[in-house]
Amino acid sequence: MLNVAFVGCGRISDLHALGYQRTPEARLYGVYDLDPARARAKAEEWGATKVYRTFEEVLGDPAVGLVEILTPHHLHGAMTVAAAKAGKHISVQKPMALDLGEADRMVAAARQAGVVLRVYENFVFYPPYIKARELILAGEIGEPVSFNLRVRTGVGKRAWSIPGDSWAWRFDPATCGGGPLMFDHGYHNFSLAMFLMGRPDKVSAWIGATEIFPGSGLLVDAPAAVWWTYGGGQRFGVMDVVYTSDLAIDTEHYADEARLELTGTRGVVFVNRMTGKLQNRAPVELYRDGVTTSFEHVPAAWEESFVAATLDLVEALAQGREPSLTGERGRDVLAFALAAHRSAREGRVAAVDYGPEGA
Ligand SMILES: NC(=O)c1ccc[n+]([C@@H]2O[C@H](COP(=O)([O-])OP(=O)(O)OC[C@H]3O[C@@H](n4cnc5c(N)ncnc54)[C@H](O)[C@@H]3O)[C@@H](O)[C@H]2O)c1
Repeated sequence: MLNVAFVGCGRISDLHALGYQRTPEARLYGVYDLDPARARAKAEEWGATKVYRTFEEVLGDPAVGLVEILTPHHLHGAMTVAAAKAGKHISVQKPMALDLGEADRMVAAARQAGVVLRVYENFVFYPPYIKARELILAGEIGEPVSFNLRVRTGVGKRAWSIPGDSWAWRFDPATCGGGPLMFDHGYHNFSLAMFLMGRPDKVSAWIGATEIFPGSGLLVDAPAAVWWTYGGGQRFGVMDVVYTSDLAIDTEHYADEARLELTGTRGVVFVNRMTGKLQNRAPVELYRDGVTTSFEHVPAAWEESFVAATLDLVEALAQGREPSLTGERGRDVLAFALAAHRSAREGRVAAVDYGPEGA
């Protein structure tokens, strides 16, 4: 039995708890949050045995085998290195760090301690994207040529309630590392582009700004457009992101909708939804040879991607294999995201820095 401790019991922690309710091989054993009342309430809700008063107490508990770091981004690096030194396996939420130097130190600390470091990212476990990958690997669209993702962020009547403190740190680059849409949320999209098409080499981006509500003075980092190449320019990806506070999106979670069109030499795969949906179409469709096939029954509930991500790590630890998302892969995705931001800042094409080991 793997005992897991959550560090940070904010908005996303509820979806992390789900996976542990579905496996007999691990349990949510303890929780810690800077806000002790929040930690106590969550421990009760999830049936966790221990509530810790400090992070050091978590690391000092010999019963804890895995630490799930679910805190704002600027804390990920130091917490991961400390957890590795304490001999704990680590799952750290995306993006793993604010810069590549910090990411390298995290990977090195885990290697040195001989513990597993997994950078948590749920999009690559979302069943419609898994289905898209299966179709690509089965050769259904021929050779993939272009990845085209359209992201629409708005408001949702049934959307999650997100506490003010969960928003606040995302608007401060010192705690978030970048903007809420292109760095925080954007990480998922960069990760997905790598999952489906491989590692890009060069990136161009333009990132604009929109007030979150008219008159608020608070800016989100959209509209934005990013494009990149793979394999020295034979294949490419494009992502365009729009935020508008007037666009109603049907969702039970975040009011983000993403439509993916993946074109190959012989066909096209469409993934028509994500946390929210705009269209009444099957989650996945395949066009080939004049025929469109709809995959109506692919599970499209967003929380399923969290359960699958959690179970992958639990299984990896039980079997002694690498998790699907390693620290090294988290570093690659971060390098991609940072290259896009560098390009937007400098107004020119940026190469992705995979570091001496990954080049
Ligand atoms: N799709 C996804 O996978 C997804 C969605 C949302 C958030 N996230 C990621 O999850 C992480 C947390 O995001 P969130 O939305 O839950 O944020 P949040 O602000 O809602 O929660 C963060 C929690 O950390 C606590 N905290 C802050 N400093 C701490 C410290 N020093 N020690 C212990 N606890 C501390 C806060 O009190 C809060 O409860 C981020 O990395 C974010 O990018 C991922």
